[in-house]
Amino acid sequence: MDKMQDVIELLTEYNQLHIVNWLNKLDENKKRELIEQINHIDLHQIAELYDNAKKEIKFKENKIEPIEYLDKQKMDENTKTELSKIGEQIIENGQYAVVTMAGGQGSRLEHPGPKGTFKLDVYGKGKYLFEILAENLKEANKRYDVIIPWYIMTSKENNDATIEFLEKNNYFGYDKNSVIIFKQGELPLIDFEGKLLIGKDGKIKEASDGNGGVYTSLRTTGALADMKERGIKWIFIGGVDNVLLKMADTILLGMATQKNVQIASKSVVKANPHEKVGVFCKMNGHPKVIEYSELPEKMAEEVDNNGELKFGESHIMCNLFTIEAIEKISKEPLIYHSAKKKNTYLDENGNEIIPKEPNSYKFEAFIFDAFEFFDDIAILRGKREDDFAPVKNKEGVDSPRTAKELYEKFWNRNRE
Ligand code: UD1
Repeated sequence: MDKMQDVIELLTEYNQLHIVNWLNKLDENKKRELIEQINHIDLHQIAELYDNAKKEIKFKENKIEPIEYLDKQKMDENTKTELSKIGEQIIENGQYAVVTMAGGQGSRLEHPGPKGTFKLDVYGKGKYLFEILAENLKEANKRYDVIIPWYIMTSKENNDATIEFLEKNNYFGYDKNSVIIFKQGELPLIDFEGKLLIGKDGKIKEASDGNGGVYTSLRTTGALADMKERGIKWIFIGGVDNVLLKMADTILLGMATQKNVQIASKSVVKANPHEKVGVFCKMNGHPKVIEYSELPEKMAEEVDNNGELKFGESHIMCNLFTIEAIEKISKEPLIYHSAKKKNTYLDENGNEIIPKEPNSYKFEAFIFDAFEFFDDIAILRGKREDDFAPVKNKEGVDSPRTAKELYEKFWNRNRE
């Protein structure tokens, strides 16, 4: 079997002899399946990712400056109306689409299903996260007399469960033909020696490639082509877990158009230096977000002359792009960040090992790493109580309890 020989050579070259041994223990069917999977894995890329994972992230050699933004609170009414009108026109012309990234697992929330299927206890009856997003879009559809195409990114892990849930709930009244579900990509997990992990099913263990996978998967799944066919010019990409996310913010859209930029984002002021949010900055003259897990403590705490955090514009996963920007990014490689995680695996004898400590690297691309491909970004500073109520943790900060409170307060204030 030539194919087998090629795979063995490849695995040997990349120091994956344990997989060769494992292959020899499998029956013909399983062997074929595993070889098929290995042929889809770029072992060279994995070796590079492993080398990078061991390196420390250094920002020192780079020129880092605070980012400029426009504060919605300080905008006069005329400007607001003017920008809104520009945005409204784009939506009314059917040139606006929305992407919800729902591929994450919500493990911190300890919810067993896809995160969008989590029910937040609001107003007695409760609402699912997907339902809250659907309501937000339906309201915009009504206001602008259109149906905004809604693209939902799932992962291999949660795709079927997501579809089943949305079907069962009749897409919360959203026009089914305007909901397009597409899957993000995956990358293998490796241990701290760079060895691929074997999963319970006898295959190499893979996991979602991070929310930065959205660009490539939009292109490879045909979703981007679908957008072009529909005449879309602007694409909003948001997360699944912020119950105050405004998915059709006409001021943001108007501001991006007026500033003639390809990307725009909404921010809120960081609640405290150590809040778990990414922060905007300019690195070597280009827009950038530094993720909370990678932000040096000194930078996190730095204040300006007014006593405000120098890097206090939080990335709240509320991002807007032209279709050209998405096209461009989808063809550029993004960097991958590594995280140390606990992952069960099979040893060479097929015994399941359940680690007590992190034992492996997971690689993820981050959506905002694409910002630095551009010279500029338009940032609109919103307000936490209007724009940001994330459901991340089971308890404490950013939990269902805090999100419920913010959500109900917002709607009690804004209900007609
Ligand atoms: C994310 C942002 C952070 C921001 C915060 C605001 C990144 C890397 N981090 O942090 O800068 O301040 O939100 O709430 O973007 N997702 C996928 N596929 C994946 C991984 C995630 O679709 O493979 C989706 C999740 O379903 C969710 C969103 O991406 O909708 C963000 O999730 P997560 O990766 O958990 O990032 P946070 O740590 O919450």
